[in-house]
Amino acid sequence: MVRTIGTTAQRRWEEHASWRGAVQLAELPGGQQVWVISGYNEVTALLADERLSLDKRHSGGGYAGFALPPALDRNLLNMDGDEHGRIRRLAVPAFSRRSTESLELVVRRIADETFAALAESAGETVDLLDRLCVPVPALVIGDLLGVPADLHPGLRDAATAMVTFDAASKESGRRLGSAIGWLTTTFTALIDAKRAEAGDDLLSGWIRAADDETLTGDELVSLAFLMMLAGLENAVHLCGNLIAALLGSGGITATDWAARRRDLMERANPLPFAIRRFAVTDLTVGGHTIPRGDTVLLSVFGADSDPARAGRPSLMFGRGPHYCLGARTADLIVDAVVPEFFARHPRARLAVPPAESAYRNSWRAHGLVALPVVLDA
Ligand code: HEM
Repeated sequence: MVRTIGTTAQRRWEEHASWRGAVQLAELPGGQQVWVISGYNEVTALLADERLSLDKRHSGGGYAGFALPPALDRNLLNMDGDEHGRIRRLAVPAFSRRSTESLELVVRRIADETFAALAESAGETVDLLDRLCVPVPALVIGDLLGVPADLHPGLRDAATAMVTFDAASKESGRRLGSAIGWLTTTFTALIDAKRAEAGDDLLSGWIRAADDETLTGDELVSLAFLMMLAGLENAVHLCGNLIAALLGSGGITATDWAARRRDLMERANPLPFAIRRFAVTDLTVGGHTIPRGDTVLLSVFGADSDPARAGRPSLMFGRGPHYCLGARTADLIVDAVVPEFFARHPRARLAVPPAESAYRNSWRAHGLVALPVVLDA
């Protein structure tokens, strides 16, 4: 029997571990067939294998993912090869070690200001996603790119509409449609405004590249959209999952954090799967032939928890040509938010028991709806 992907968030790691070692045909909610691959060796190799493409034009079965307009669709996660390399090279310098060193100061300042505002709610029950896990990455990535703070709530809602999209639900389709409309208008208008008045930010730099014709207009808007949305969505839920797990197990000291941060981060990973890929040729994996055009989902949760990994690096930030551009930024954000929260609020506690935490209903992303916490008085 073909299994359907998607279970409760509390059982998500178990679900991914149960595919381990196997190449398995499964169904997404809504009935679309996909191949799930979850062995560490297989996922490691396939993340960097050119026979799997991120470009939807290689989908034979009419993959029913998001139908994004060209202004959002021409992004790095839909491209391969030279086309992908040309755009990625433009984005890479902003994430070099030198740039992230100066970014560290920005992250620390933004985290300090956010903690100062949080301290005003001492003794109260607050939603830590709203008050800490969203504002820090939103302000950091917004500062880097040049995306103003009044757009952050809309961006968070749009990210949620995307990761919870369910092809079988009309209501979900309507929410996604309005999110896509809003994102297209918002990023196009933002870029027009920066074209009229450039700032000292990434978007302004990319606009100059577009004017030199290294980037088309659609590629420019798509790059800005991907960077802001991928960065925000993942950093928010990585911080949220980490704090929720640590509050459920009695908090953490700075020394313990330094020793355990890698393991804790892996376990709080908000991305169960890498981005869907399409076989550009018939492909044999683990004795199964995946026909050309079929959709492949590489399970990062399965790979990272596979005993065959035997101490090798986590795949949570991917591997190969699409390796996460924001991995170091994510580290800076997590280090400024998570141990600092426990240093400033050593007696904070979850307002609802861990088993009752509400997670978003999504097979694509692993993140909370809210993180209600009682802050120390
Ligand atoms: C916080 C936790 C994060 C996680 C777990 C994460 C994970 C990943 C993974 C697994 C990929 C590769 C996808 C694939 O090959 O299928 C990726 C790509 C990417 N990430 Fe992240 N990411 C995070 C944060 C960020 C941040 C903060 C930014 C931006 C500031 C960012 C920007 C990107 C971009 C632009 C790509 C596409 C790179 C390319 O296709 O060349 N990510 N991320």
